[in-house]
Amino acid sequence: MKELVIIIRPEKLEKVKQILDEVNCGGMTISTVMGCGTQKGMTEESGVNTIRGFHVNINLLPKIRVEVVVPDKIVEDIITEIRDRVATGHVGDGKIFIRKIEDAVRIRTGERGRKAL
Ligand SMILES: Nc1ncnc2c1ncn2[C@@H]1O[C@H](COP(=O)(O)OP(=O)(O)OP(=O)(O)O)[C@@H](O)[C@H]1O
Ligand SMILES: [Mg+2]
Repeated sequence: MKELVIIIRPEKLEKVKQILDEVNCGGMTISTVMGCGTQKGMTEESGVNTIRGFHVNINLLPKIRVEVVVPDKIVEDIITEIRDRVATGHVGDGKIFIRKIEDAVRIRTGERGRKAL
């Protein structure tokens, strides 16, 4: 099992939900977050980091964080679909972080591992 932490533009959430539904993921957790990448929050339009006219070193932009734990075999499919359908080609498209998950428990039944997803 792997956990994908997918950080995307807020307007791309419906696309990502659709992709995760298509691969029959068991569940997902969504949060609204603030973040920045290598441009430190400078957008292509603004060209400079200011908040209400004051210069700031790092500007945090609203993003959506999707956490989903899935079987290993669908990880690459999800990544491919996200690259194909969520990328705009502009800076700020987001990232996918991938980590190993040791175990999972469905609290209602006690099922473990992949059965618990
Ligand atoms: N190294 C990181 N660690 C944690 N979160 C990150 C990291 N890089 C990006 N993020 C998160 O992803 C969001 C989008 O990052 P972004 O797509 O701008 O990355 P980038 O490296 O600047 O790539 P690009 O040049 O395409 O913009 C950030 O707002 C932040 O929430
Ligand atoms: Mg960036």
